[in-house]
Amino acid sequence: MSTTSVKELLSTVPSKQSILVNGWVKAFRSNRFIALNDGSCLQNLQCVVDFDSFDEELLKQINTGAAIKVSGTLVESQGKGQTVEVQVTDIFIHGGADPEKYPIQPKKHSMEFLREQAHLRIRTNTFSAVMRVRSTLSFAIHQYFRENDFQLVHTPIITGSDAEGAGEMFRVSTLDPKNPPLTDEGNVNHKEDFFGKETNLTVSGQLEAETYAMGLGKVYTFGPTFRAENSNTTRHLAEFWMIEPEVAFNDLDDNMDLAEDFIKSVIRYVITHCEEDLRFLENRLLQEEKTKPQAERSEMALIEKLRFVADNTFKRVSYTEAIEILRNSKPNKKKKFQYLINEWGADLQSEHERFLVEKHFKCPVILFDYPAKIKAFYMRLNEDEKTVRAMDILFPGIGEIVGGSQREERLDVLVEKMKSLGIEEKELWWYLDLRKFGTAVHSGFGLGFERLVLFATGMGNIRDVIPFPRTPQNAEF
Ligand code: 4AD
Ligand code: MG
Repeated sequence: MSTTSVKELLSTVPSKQSILVNGWVKAFRSNRFIALNDGSCLQNLQCVVDFDSFDEELLKQINTGAAIKVSGTLVESQGKGQTVEVQVTDIFIHGGADPEKYPIQPKKHSMEFLREQAHLRIRTNTFSAVMRVRSTLSFAIHQYFRENDFQLVHTPIITGSDAEGAGEMFRVSTLDPKNPPLTDEGNVNHKEDFFGKETNLTVSGQLEAETYAMGLGKVYTFGPTFRAENSNTTRHLAEFWMIEPEVAFNDLDDNMDLAEDFIKSVIRYVITHCEEDLRFLENRLLQEEKTKPQAERSEMALIEKLRFVADNTFKRVSYTEAIEILRNSKPNKKKKFQYLINEWGADLQSEHERFLVEKHFKCPVILFDYPAKIKAFYMRLNEDEKTVRAMDILFPGIGEIVGGSQREERLDVLVEKMKSLGIEEKELWWYLDLRKFGTAVHSGFGLGFERLVLFATGMGNIRDVIPFPRTPQNAEF
């Protein structure tokens, strides 16, 4: 007989049919009730054991964390909280779990403790709910692009260019670190390295995605992204996943329209497809918020907040307008911001972004037309020659979730910009070729996948929405 998942059994009409189910024991109460979970859904399957008919030695092995196979009949449940249960006829122990040693006991564990048990934390309700939402979001993203005629492009993970010009990259090299070959000037000679040049893990697939957009028209990448910035925040990872669509002939307005429609669509998808998990996460968040001071609690419950974002238009505001709002804001005047906004040109910190979204506009905000000086080299220069066609999307509780722009498609302007920043033309000759042969207006953006998962699940720390977080001083597992 084949096995059935807990999820399927829970939605089956019981008629004393024989069933076989695998799973892990969540709890074993009164030597009688096994709460069984196999990860297929949040809810456990109750399996009722008549202990007189089982060997005592076998019952002793049914501990929290043990993997077991249960045979039995599916009947209507007598208890509250479930419609069906299994009357157990046979139990096979795949593998026990010593209750003295198994770290995930049926009680509340702190997120910090669970991070140290990242290989086992998926057995908790919170992490299984988060990871099912994450998986569903990932599917919704691919589906959105497929339905809108985008092609998926796998951009390289090892690259020779620094797309963001930030210089915070992980080097990829096979040279002997103790004794690398040197040039006459005494520098490491990367000509002798694996690729014959310096290479890094990618900080963005954008530049390569641009080349494909200028042939396939509408493309996206969805891949791992690496940043060696020493940021120990609840919003930064050294390894994260980024979704980067790139569209030929789109200008910045089209780009904003696409980003807004895309985000709303995938959020709607999880609202409909992850109802049980979201309700659980909403409750978790409510409990957690009870421990916070009133002023820090969010005004909306999780699902309400997701609906709000899915149903309301994002506010579009130019950088210049935003600076005026911030300059005249209470926290700026009362010197409550850590970084005070004094003049046009200042880079926005997350405290400013969150003020705009959470206090001022109280909805997602798209900021556009930033000063050229604080943005990457590839963004299209506006007629004012001071600002570029950049856009960032800011979300409540998260801050920046998307960064994007219309790209500089004019060869001479781009070359000039690269010169002024000391970026060598020969490093990016292929990128410049796009501007020499059939150049056109084009735009794209990057959405940080984990920040989206953070928002959708209401979790507070980005380390808890990726299976194995990579952060400074932390690459266990
Ligand atoms: O704003 P960023 O740096 O933009 C780019 O990389 C562009 N090349 C994207 C493009 O236009 N194709 O990064 C985009 C998004 C951010 O808005 C943020 O959501 C996320 O990536 N992100 C991070 N997420 C987690 N940890 C980090 N260290 C992140 N850095 C950026
Ligand atoms: Mg950015």
